Amino acid sequence: MHYRNLGKTGLKVSEVGMGCNRLGDPMHDDKFWNDLVTRAIDLGVNNFDTSEADGKGRSEEVLGRVVGNRDDLYIASKASPKTIDDVRQITSEIIFEAVEKSLKRLQRDCIDIYQLHSPNQEMLERDDWAEGLLRLREQGKIKHCAIAVNSAKDGIWAIEHGVAEVLQITYSIFETTPEDALFDLAKEHGVGLLVRRPMERGVLTGKFKPNQEVASEHRASLEKDRLPGMIERAETLRTVGEVYSGGMTRMALQFGLGPDAVSCIIPGARKIEQVEENVAASYGGGFSADVRAQIDAVRDTWEN
Ligand SMILES: NC(=O)c1ccc[n+]([C@@H]2O[C@H](COP(=O)([O-])OP(=O)(O)OC[C@H]3O[C@@H](n4cnc5c(N)ncnc54)[C@H](OP(=O)(O)O)[C@@H]3O)[C@@H](O)[C@H]2O)c1
Repeated sequence: MHYRNLGKTGLKVSEVGMGCNRLGDPMHDDKFWNDLVTRAIDLGVNNFDTSEADGKGRSEEVLGRVVGNRDDLYIASKASPKTIDDVRQITSEIIFEAVEKSLKRLQRDCIDIYQLHSPNQEMLERDDWAEGLLRLREQGKIKHCAIAVNSAKDGIWAIEHGVAEVLQITYSIFETTPEDALFDLAKEHGVGLLVRRPMERGVLTGKFKPNQEVASEHRASLEKDRLPGMIERAETLRTVGEVYSGGMTRMALQFGLGPDAVSCIIPGARKIEQVEENVAASYGGGFSADVRAQIDAVRDTWEN
C-alpha cells in the first residue's frame, strides 16, 4: 500500500481507503462486516469513510467495533442536513447533535475528518455550520473540518472561502470536472481530497452489460433512469479496459488515483474479494498518458 499526505492535515492516508456505505447491511451478520474491515486493515487501509446516515448508523457501529479508538486508523464521518420548519439546513445545532451520536456509535473520543454530507450551495452560503465545525475542533471532538461536496464548483467555493481542510469529491472516468480548476486550487491551498465513487457505483468495473436487469442489491440501481446510459458508456471503454493490466476495475481505480492532488480513493465494497481487488490498485499514482489518451478518445464519442 502506498500512502499520501492528506493536504496539510499532517495525516498520511493509504491511497486506497474504504467507502463504508454498505457496512452493517442486514444482508450479513456482524461477524461478516467485522471481518471485511479487519481484512482491509490487514492490507494497509488506514482510513474509512462513513456517515451518520449509512445504514442508519450501522456502518459507524461496525467501525466502532473494529476500529474503535485506535489512533493509527482514521475515520471520516458526516453530519447530514435536516429539514426544520420546512427548510433543509445544516446548522451548528444539527452538527453538535449529530457528532455526539456518531462518537458513541464509533466508540471514539474524536473523529479525524468530519464532513458536511452533501450540502447544497444555499446551505453552504446561508447556514452557520462553519462556526460549528470550528467549535468541535476546539473541543477536540473532531480533528479536521471537511465537506463532502456535490460538485467541483462547490469545492472551489469552499477552498476560496477557507472553510475546509479536506473535501470529498466525485472523480472518475465519467466525472472529470475537478481537473478543470479544483485540483490545482486544492494543491495550492493544501486541501486534502478524498475521491468517492471511483467505480461509479460498480458500473466502471464493466460487470453490467447493456440491457441487463440490475438487481436492487447493487448500489448502481440507485442511478435509476441514468443507469442504462452509464452502462452503455462503460461498454464503450471495454476494449481499452480489457487490455489494461488488472482490467477495467483497476483502470477505473487507478484513473481516480492518477492526479497528485488526490490523497486517496474511497471505493465501496461489500465482499472481501472486492476489498482485496481494490487495495491491489494502489500504485503510487501518475496515470499512463497513453491509456488516458485512449480513454479520452472514447469519451469524445459520448454525447453530453
Ligand atoms: N454524498 C456523499 O457523501 C457520498 C455519496 C456517495 C458515496 N460516498 C462515499 O464514497 C464511497 C464509495 O462510493 P460508492 O460505493 O457509491 O461507489 P464506488 O466506490 O464507485 O462503487 C462501489 C460499489 O462497487 C461494487 N464493487 C466494489 N469493488 C468492486 C470490485 N472490485 N469489483 C466489482 N465491483 C466492485 C460494490 O457494489 P456491488 O457489489 O453491489 O456491485 C460497491 O458497493 C461510499 O462507500 C461512501 O463512503 C459518499
